[in-house]
Order: sequence, then structure tokens, then C-alpha cells
Amino acid sequence: MKILFYDTKSYDKESFDKALKDYPEITIEYTKSDLDSRTASLAEGFDAVCAFVSSEVGASTLEILHMKGVRFILLRCAGFNNVDLEKARELGMGVLRVPGYSPEAVAEHAMALALACNRRLYKAYNKVRENDFSLSGLMGFNFYQKTAGIIGTGKIGAAMCRIAKGFGMRVIAYDVYPNESLKDFVEYVSLEELLATSDLISLHCPLMDNTYHMINIDTIRQMKDGVILVNTSRGALVKTQDLIEGIRMHKFAGVGLDVYEEESANVFEDRSEEILENSTTARLLSFPNVMITSHQGFFTREALENIAETTLQNAMDCEKGRDLLSLPNNVL
Ligand code: NAI
Repeated sequence: MKILFYDTKSYDKESFDKALKDYPEITIEYTKSDLDSRTASLAEGFDAVCAFVSSEVGASTLEILHMKGVRFILLRCAGFNNVDLEKARELGMGVLRVPGYSPEAVAEHAMALALACNRRLYKAYNKVRENDFSLSGLMGFNFYQKTAGIIGTGKIGAAMCRIAKGFGMRVIAYDVYPNESLKDFVEYVSLEELLATSDLISLHCPLMDNTYHMINIDTIRQMKDGVILVNTSRGALVKTQDLIEGIRMHKFAGVGLDVYEEESANVFEDRSEEILENSTTARLLSFPNVMITSHQGFFTREALENIAETTLQNAMDCEKGRDLLSLPNNVL
């Protein structure tokens, strides 16, 4: 099987080349271009493309890939909101992903953001480097015996529940499908109750039509004053304009974001004045209690190894014409 690997970073190449040794039937060609309708034609002559969260795999991209003979989309990520699944099905193209490659990687990053915001670690780091050892502006609150509200308790949300429990927090959750394995220490409540009672709210549900902008001015108003909000899931779960309004209302003790609405626009790669001026992300960064990281939740050694291994196994399963329905979590 020949795979064209889009949006290649040096660490991707390293982990995939390492895993590739066990898959002599697969060859990979790497390109730095990301996949969208302008770059899809590069895949002529390839059986599959390997894409990431930043790729735009909408209807027009899929049509071009299909025309060029590509049969499979191998997502090297868990989320799939960037793929037009209906179109892929209509064209008979298989879409596979890597669910749960390391839920702990993302959950640990979510807690790192929560702690960094609460204890102002970014500010403390800069102050001390500038020889300012005063504690002004650094006061936080104990997580111990406070309430963590987890929205979405699949693999990552469940890991976050376990971490919050480890901090001695009361853990409550909202999910459309409660996770039975958490019932000993997680109390499921309505979204309204979660918003009204949590000291820390962490988002771990997928981006879908019914979760788009689920954090908006109405839901923000329902939150406790002084809450910490963390989003490591998808940027568009949060309506950024409303978040800015909430920050201005002093609703939040801190906001930690690993994902943000403008991610695909590469706001910070293209640092032109105009883009930065009109960017809601840049405006968010101007607040002292907001910490943004660049979608790095997944970025651990263990996660990269699992991603490479599962993606290549997905490719082999496609190639060997295995009954893909026996991999229900990987096939979309
Ligand atoms: P998962 O599929 O195991 O869990 C998602 C959970 O959300 C499920 O329990 C589901 O029932 C729940 N859910 C669905 N609709 C909901 C709604 N309307 N309200 C509340 N809960 C709802 O997914 P997993 O692996 O835990 O990943 C969660 C998300 O994390 C992914 O969709 C992806 O967007 C994001 N992610 C972020 C990464 C990063 O590097 N920051 C890396 C990997 C995933």
C-alpha cells in the first residue's frame, strides 16, 4: 500500500519510520503540505492518504482524492469533525482513525493547564526570571475538596475524572452516555447543575452539531464566579467572542485552552498585523488569566508511538480487505 502522508512534522516522520520497519508492505511518501482541496491532487497514484486534525477533508477534497484513485483516509488522530463522512461513504472511501491512543496524555495536559492557570505558573515563571520574587498576583485556590465538572466522559474524560479524584476533588460529570466504569466515584448530573456547581470545568466531548458553541454567553452566565475553564477537546465547543465577554465580566479565575476556534487559520504561523488584529485568539492572549497551548495535548512519546502503530495497522487491515467492521472504533 502506498500512503501519502500530509502535514509532515519531523516527529511524525521519526515515529512512523520507526514503526514502518514492521510493515514491509507499506510505503510512505511524506509531504509538508496539509491536505485540502488545493493539495488533494498530489495524492495521484496513492492508495491512501494520512491526514491530521488540521486537514480539511470536506466534500471537494474527497471528490478529488477519489478521482485520483485514493481509497482510504487514514486519520492519525481521534477527532474526525474535519471529515465529511457522508461524502466519504457516498464515494465508497474508508475513513479510519486512532481512537484512544493515549487518553492520559490529553487528560494530564488538561490538568496541567488547570494547575498552571490556578497557580499562575506562567506568570510566576516570568517574574522569577526577571528577578521578581514577590507573590503579588499569584494567589490560587486548593483543588482539594473542590468540585471538578467533566463534560464528556469517554476515554479522555474518564482519565481526567481519575486525575481529579486523585487530587481529592469531588467529581461530577455530564455525558449523553454515562460511563459505567466511573460510577463508583463520579456523580452524573445535568449540564445546568455541572455549570452551576463546578470550580473546574473541563471539556472532553467531541465537536458535533449539538456540541458546537456549547460554551456560550448563556452557559458561561450559569457558571460559578471564579471558575477555571479548560478546553483540550475542540476549539469550536467554545464561542470565543462570548468567552471574551465572560472574561471581561470576571467570571473566570483562569482559562486554559489547548484548542481554539482559529486553529485551522494558522493565525500564529502567519503573523501578519491584520490577522493578529482581527484574531479572537490574539485578543484572548491579551488577558492575564488565559493560557493557550498549541494543540499539544496528544504530544507525548507514548502517544506518538501508539498513533504510528495503529495507523499502520489500520492501513494493513484496509489492504488485506479485512472485515473493517471488526474494528468498530477505528472505522468511521
Ligand atoms: P470518546 O469518543 O472516547 O469520548 C467522547 C465522550 O463525549 C463520549 O462519552 C460521548 O458520549 C460524549 N459526548 C458526546 N456528545 C456529547 C454531548 N453532547 N454532551 C456531553 N458529552 C457528549 O473521545 P475521547 O477519545 O475521549 O476524545 C474526546 C475529544 O478530545 C475528541 O473528540 C477530540 O476532539 C479531543 N482530542 C484532543 C486532543 C488534543 O491533543 N488536545 C487529542 C485527542 C482528542
